[in-house]
Amino acid sequence: MKRFILSLAALAFLVPATAHAAGDQEVPPEHHWSFNGIFGTYDRAQLLRGLEVYRGVCANCHGLKYVRFRDLEAIGLSEDEVKAIAANYTVEGDVDSFGDPTTREAKPFDAFPSPFPNDEAARASNGGALPIDLSLVAKSRVHGPDYIHALIGLGYEENAEPGPTGLYHNPYMAGGYIAMPPPLFDDAVEYHDGTAATVEQMSTDVSAFLMWAAEPKLEARKAIGLKVILFLLVLTGLFYVCKRKLWANVEH
Ligand code: HEC
Repeated sequence: MKRFILSLAALAFLVPATAHAAGDQEVPPEHHWSFNGIFGTYDRAQLLRGLEVYRGVCANCHGLKYVRFRDLEAIGLSEDEVKAIAANYTVEGDVDSFGDPTTREAKPFDAFPSPFPNDEAARASNGGALPIDLSLVAKSRVHGPDYIHALIGLGYEENAEPGPTGLYHNPYMAGGYIAMPPPLFDDAVEYHDGTAATVEQMSTDVSAFLMWAAEPKLEARKAIGLKVILFLLVLTGLFYVCKRKLWANVEH
């Protein structure tokens, strides 16, 4: 038994040590997101701008396989706008009568496809590195949106050139080097609302968009949490009144 407890204690020390071993990167600065805190909500205008950055820049290398085009109605696009966006993408169709694979125009029920037919092709076009699917990256990386914002918005030096290994220095990436060329430069996209497309603006907007992609139900989750707390408070009050009533005639 003693041994068991001792090994448990040893494990408890080991876990943070291994977590540290992978993290030789800089901690990203904390950004003030509209969705932070218990009352936090997404800023729809920001999400729409983030979508524009994703489509205009990131989608050249990264897919979003868990985001369906029609999900975009939740951030304020109309059915027709969703249809028009989907029509810009090509997805795998059924096999034809000869058994050969076909492609077709994407429909609102499809998800954002990867621009590459498979991982091997993706690596071959990116110096051997895989541009991962971005659907869940805001939840799967420590510091989520702060990390993405720092990685693409702050981490590259101006006019960064790759080093001798073909990698770019970026202190926010584990190991300090990344195969992704700096994706953003001023005016890389033209925002529909006329916002100036600086690197800082675009990296913030697309990070917020990727947070929404990874957790579209964040607002509902927070609302339920608040209702549960309210309910528990009322219940506590009721129990207290009951207790007073029940014990009122009992001698102390
Ligand atoms: C030219 C292709 C290309 C473009 C455009 C591009 N990326 Fe990447 N991205 C890559 C590659 C390749 C990797 C893998 C890097 C590695 O493993 O070193 C990557 C990795 C990433 C990662 C993961 C880093 C990690 O922790 O592993 C994130 C997040 C990311 N990209 C976000 C973006 C965003 C957001 C955009 C749009 C603003 C974007 N990328 C545009 C090629 C690209």
